[in-house]
Amino acid sequence: PIKACLFDLDGVLVDTAKYHYIAWRQLAQELGFTFTEEDNERLKGVSRMASLDILLSIGGLELTEEEKLRLAESKNERYVEYISGMDASEILPGALELLQALRSQGIKVALGSASKNAMSILDHTGLTPYFDAIVDGNKTVSAKPDPEVFLLGAKEVGVLPEEAVVFEDAEAGIEAARRAGMRSVGIGSADQLGQADLVLSSLSGFSVKQLKELEHLPAP
Ligand code: BG6
Ligand code: MG
Repeated sequence: PIKACLFDLDGVLVDTAKYHYIAWRQLAQELGFTFTEEDNERLKGVSRMASLDILLSIGGLELTEEEKLRLAESKNERYVEYISGMDASEILPGALELLQALRSQGIKVALGSASKNAMSILDHTGLTPYFDAIVDGNKTVSAKPDPEVFLLGAKEVGVLPEEAVVFEDAEAGIEAARRAGMRSVGIGSADQLGQADLVLSSLSGFSVKQLKELEHLPAP
């Protein structure tokens, strides 16, 4: 039986991609090149330092480790400022309803995010009370597609991988779920998230009944 849901944060529960985008775009501008919305798609689900490497490759820049740390820090300071202005209106459609339904039916809920800012985002949007466990970029060593973040989440809520379902908007996240031996629901387009057991355009209208139907599919 399915006993837990593990949620990615950015792009699944809240729309933070736009803040990452403007913070990275400003950094690129300061470095003298243009960073487009299309470029930003490549940073979905990617860790902060790996995102910076992608950005610098777009600008054709090679910097020292020390310079890179300084730039990542400066981007993050800006990003933190943007997210400090977030509120519940930025929760994505259907997310709150699903979290409430899971809670009322006794299904465990855990966060599995690459972000080191996850706690702050959950607090500003009022989502913290819905979680039984929070695993974020501060608790993990390996980034998705490594399964670490989801294996730790399942462990923290006391369920086996085959009893957990992962909700993800990034291809690397679906791959991480698969490697963890967990079923997955992709939020986005089927072109990109075809490896998921089910792909939805948003969480809107997704019910616990539909979740339970995933039990009939074999765990990866
Ligand atoms: C992921 C986002 O959830 O977190 C990425 O999809 C982001 O875009 C990554 O780079 C790390 O986030 P943060 O908040 O630690 O810089
Ligand atoms: Mg995401």
